[in-house]
Amino acid sequence: MYNAQDEQKYFGLSKKFQNADLSIDQIEELRDVLRYHEYKYAVTNNPVISDYEYDQLFKKLEALESTYPLLITPDSPTQRVASDLTPDMEAVEHLSPMLSLGNSYNDQDLHDFDQQIKRLLNLPEDQDVSYCVEPKFDGGSLAVIYDNDFLVRSATRGNGIKGEEMTANARAIPSIPLKANFSALGIKKVELRGEGLIRVENFDIINKQREKDGLALFANPRNAATGGLRMKDPNETRKRGIEVFMFQIGVAQDANGKDMLPTFKTHYQGIEVLRSLGFKVPKAAIKECKNIDEAIDFCNLWQQKRMEYPYEIDGMVVKVNSLALQERAGFTQHHPRWAIAFKFKAKQATTTLMGVEYQIGKIGSVTPVAKVEPVQLAGVTVSSISLHNADFISSKDLRLGDKVLIERAGDVIPYIVKSFPELRDDQVVPIIFPTHCPSCNTPLAKAENEAAWRCLNVNCTEQIKQRMYFHVSKNAMDIDGFGPSYIDRFYEEGWIRDLSDIYNLDYDKIATLEGFGKRSGENLETAITKAKANPIHRLLHSLSIHHLGKKASKLIAENISHVLDLRQWSYEDFVDIKDIGPVVAENVVAYFADDQNIALLEKMESLGVNLTQTDDDKPLQIAEDAIFAGKSILFTGKLQKLGRKEAQELAAKAGAKNISAVSSKLNILVVGEKAGSKLKKAQALGTVDIMTEDEFIEQMR
Ligand code: IVH
Repeated sequence: MYNAQDEQKYFGLSKKFQNADLSIDQIEELRDVLRYHEYKYAVTNNPVISDYEYDQLFKKLEALESTYPLLITPDSPTQRVASDLTPDMEAVEHLSPMLSLGNSYNDQDLHDFDQQIKRLLNLPEDQDVSYCVEPKFDGGSLAVIYDNDFLVRSATRGNGIKGEEMTANARAIPSIPLKANFSALGIKKVELRGEGLIRVENFDIINKQREKDGLALFANPRNAATGGLRMKDPNETRKRGIEVFMFQIGVAQDANGKDMLPTFKTHYQGIEVLRSLGFKVPKAAIKECKNIDEAIDFCNLWQQKRMEYPYEIDGMVVKVNSLALQERAGFTQHHPRWAIAFKFKAKQATTTLMGVEYQIGKIGSVTPVAKVEPVQLAGVTVSSISLHNADFISSKDLRLGDKVLIERAGDVIPYIVKSFPELRDDQVVPIIFPTHCPSCNTPLAKAENEAAWRCLNVNCTEQIKQRMYFHVSKNAMDIDGFGPSYIDRFYEEGWIRDLSDIYNLDYDKIATLEGFGKRSGENLETAITKAKANPIHRLLHSLSIHHLGKKASKLIAENISHVLDLRQWSYEDFVDIKDIGPVVAENVVAYFADDQNIALLEKMESLGVNLTQTDDDKPLQIAEDAIFAGKSILFTGKLQKLGRKEAQELAAKAGAKNISAVSSKLNILVVGEKAGSKLKKAQALGTVDIMTEDEFIEQMR
């Protein structure tokens, strides 16, 4: 239907139009772009832009059409609600149309919505309107009809007017009651709207099974759910584990066909009634809000907590709570005027892979980093994305110039999901992973069991700098104010070539550097002098010995009186320490067998860096009569006087073991402000000694 040239054209226009003010001359071109994306999404099931990007384009068309209504054509993408109808299933009419929702993307949009509601309802601007806010489920929507308390029909949303009949499948979904006591409320016939969803954790299981069975994998839980609602065999629907949440009473009538919706005062009340009748309705993520500010806060809260929700949600829905006000606000052709979706910031976006840079780590691993055309993703601009290693690039078949789909789930780092080979032009070029170190030109090597290519030249400039960045960082020697830009600068000046040079800087010279001054020289001197006295576990960690982390550094430091003692240590000596594994042992032995490293440490010591075990390096000595000896402890809620870490350290010094969950193994729970489920659980156990922060401090005296 679309050839490669068309595809490139429409993709290019989508990007161009998203960021441009469009003139009326471009309206038909914009419609063509939207039609192309409709096709990619609905027909081929292979969208090339994210929902958010599509919505942005759709809104532009709506805006143009509302300014020039005479130019609306019947085949405009705005003139239909998206349809999932297929010819081979029976179409049935909904009792009332299943409409769409208007969208909002930020706080201002919601304030505008609130103002609009007040204008529409002739309410004073400063009067609060109460809203019900609930999740915008991202699954397959459906309607169910109960007549005389029995489930009599169910249908997919379809085109909003008619849907596909799926009663047998609905009967196979356990969260849809086959009978519900509506008659107790005087309701004879009712049509409910809801959404079929698959729990995210179940989705992973389903896909793993499909992989085993050699079946095509589902792209996301929504596809698995919508497909599941429309199976020919209800047993297949049942197997998919779909759960249906109800979010709206569409129609409610008594025996005479009279509207019974006014039985409820608010939308929230309606949802609670559905809950009491045995339906699945939102629980944690639904709230009655007394005004738009509260509604906005709740939307933003869930934008942050989105990943904690067990089902996929792509936003929240803000609904005028009073059903009387809803009735007065009414509907447009497309959506109710009394509700609006607050769409979460897109987790996905499409962009172009412009180039690849190769970063060299402190132990020489070469990490390819994609440079992409900057795009907005979940609220931040993304221009660099790690490609991990050479295998990642080849497994995703990435080429320079490719259009790529990128994703950021929750707070995690963005990654490239896939490229779109169908959008390639003849300009794309393969990515050729370097065979030599981009910094020192040493041939790269790869260990059998590792994914990364590495530069094995320990004198590689880039590696040296990376080791210095790490050495001064918070996690290692913690030299306050000394960051990568200082290192780059001092390196350029030729002042630092190895770690020991950091302790041999000429502060007067630094003070004369452009952008520095007497003050910065002094500050640096203070910070470096302080770092010289660090405990040796910090020093060990700061040396960038492959795989030697904080914890293992501490374990080693506990067992030596001087760092250079390690020259005499054998592999067996290391693995004899509980929790030190063979890899760390091998690497530390190799480090201390190298004369260059010994010379470096000796030089550091001569410059005043501490290499001798300090009290801080020694294991905690806990007297047998320590107050919490042998006890386990947990802090919950917000502590007022102590920092969480400080409290844990105090407890450890008093002999307690800090643990992270309430179980029968827990002896003491210290509760701060706003303690929640942990406190309840501990109370229920009845075996836990519960104390306040003050009581805890008192015990420490
Ligand atoms: S209310 C007249 N509430 O979003 C009622 N819809 O874009 C209009 N959806 O097709 C819908 N969660 O399938 C409503 N809590 C919720 C929803 C919700 C998901 C879906 C629904 C609809 C689409 C509208």
